[in-house]
Amino acid sequence: MSIKNITCIGAGYVGGPTMAVIALKCPKIKITVVDSNSSKIDKWNGPIDNIPVYEPGLSDIIKKTRNKNLFFSPNIKSGIESAEMIFMAVNTPTKQIGEGAGMAADLKYVEACAKDIAKFSKNNKIVIEKSTLPVRTAEKIKDILKKNSKVEFEVLSNPEFLAEGTAINDLFKSDRVLIGGDNTKSGKKAIKSLVEIYEKWIPKEKILTTNVWSSELSKLASNAFLAQRISSINSLSAICEKSGADIDELSKAIGMDHRIGPHFLKASVGFGGSCFKKDILNLVYISRSYGLDEVADYWESVIKINDFQKNRFVKKISSVFNNNLKNKKILILGWAFKANTNDSRESASIYVTEKLHNLGAIIDIYDPMVSSSKVFSDIELFWKFNFDKSRINFVRTLPKSTYQYDIAAILTEWEDFKEIDYGNTEVFDGRNILKNKKITNYYEI
Ligand code: NAD
Ligand code: UGA
Repeated sequence: MSIKNITCIGAGYVGGPTMAVIALKCPKIKITVVDSNSSKIDKWNGPIDNIPVYEPGLSDIIKKTRNKNLFFSPNIKSGIESAEMIFMAVNTPTKQIGEGAGMAADLKYVEACAKDIAKFSKNNKIVIEKSTLPVRTAEKIKDILKKNSKVEFEVLSNPEFLAEGTAINDLFKSDRVLIGGDNTKSGKKAIKSLVEIYEKWIPKEKILTTNVWSSELSKLASNAFLAQRISSINSLSAICEKSGADIDELSKAIGMDHRIGPHFLKASVGFGGSCFKKDILNLVYISRSYGLDEVADYWESVIKINDFQKNRFVKKISSVFNNNLKNKKILILGWAFKANTNDSRESASIYVTEKLHNLGAIIDIYDPMVSSSKVFSDIELFWKFNFDKSRINFVRTLPKSTYQYDIAAILTEWEDFKEIDYGNTEVFDGRNILKNKKITNYYEI
């Protein structure tokens, strides 16, 4: 079946960019992106410089496709009714209450989508898991669809591997596209119709088809592997600090072994982002629920090292000032969890800055893409300490120099930070981006 109408539920960091790229590459397919957050939909339909997701290259694609074959709508019912294929790209955060709280993925948004799909569908449809989900979620989705509808659904898993900041390039030149489906006649037909879409721009040999469970688990496993590499190199950065070895030289030496490879070996103040931590916690939860405690402990240690690294960074700053940061003026450079995104979810900055504030420091925060209101809403939401607003200030433009500060702490790898004149300020580089700049009082991670 050649698909003519696609709907994607969820207009976030995955739904927006992935559907924009499919719309660009498949001009004959009409794509509607729906979301229960109508103000987000208004933003997608509003001025191009104010769309809700900042990604290099995205606004150009939106300009080319919006209201031609790409539509953003708050009308979930008509979006579902009109589509032959429905992507679910809703959030799957860590559960906050109930069984598995603090570990398992909260599937309430996915389940709500499945209920809506069942309720509003009048003819057979292909339903696609785009969100990252625990292995065997498709079974639950099928149950919901079957219980609440008379039409036939085929459920595929098609996890997304894009990284924020490079999403468009990742979507244009994916290392692989993974499609999991049932080995039945209708399952194979559904897989074929999704393969035909990706084949418009992805080479055939990079489109991998598997069973549903392998596809669901591969996504969690991929994120766990990437995060594990970062924790591995970060654990070694602590040994470097004690021994006098240089972590970047170490990364290079390790990565030159072609069996290891050079990527994801950059030591840092810790990984952030909405997914690594939640996906590993989910993997830990799944392992424990299968009675695999040793496996669970192994993956849990990746998160422990990540927390250790953030604490180590704070301790290092504090120790240089004889463990007294009271009224020290600190410039925080970077609030986003990585460069080239306006996303601050799980950013190391949120955690590190809270600790520095709790130690009595006076904090200025600068980020080129994250707004002041987002910074303060993160602080209000995540800082447990009753914070003192008079000691926190948002800086609107890139500081030319840091002369007025005792400390500059680099927490995001924005290129702009290389242009600042650091003078004699104590610089703590949580991303090792200023390494060759010959700064007087320089501390790397
Ligand atoms: P997001 O929070 O940016 O977007 C999710 C959107 O879904 C929100 O706008 C929300 O309003 C909407 N939504 C939730 N429930 C809904 C419902 N029942 N009906 C309609 N809309 C609903 O999340 P995201 O970052 O795009 O992530 C989505 C999924 O993709 C997650 O499972 C995540 O793990 C996975 N993923 C994310 C990335 C990434 O880089 N952010 C990359 C790969 C995979
Ligand atoms: C990550 C994966 O890279 C994507 O493949 C995946 O699709 C996505 O998660 C997801 O499922 O959400 P993302 O979190 O957007 O993408 O960004 P990454 O480039 O992976 O960076 C994550 C964090 O690790 C950032 O804080 C980054 O600064 C840090 N990092 C990355 C390091 O500290 N060192 C490195 O060598 C690489």
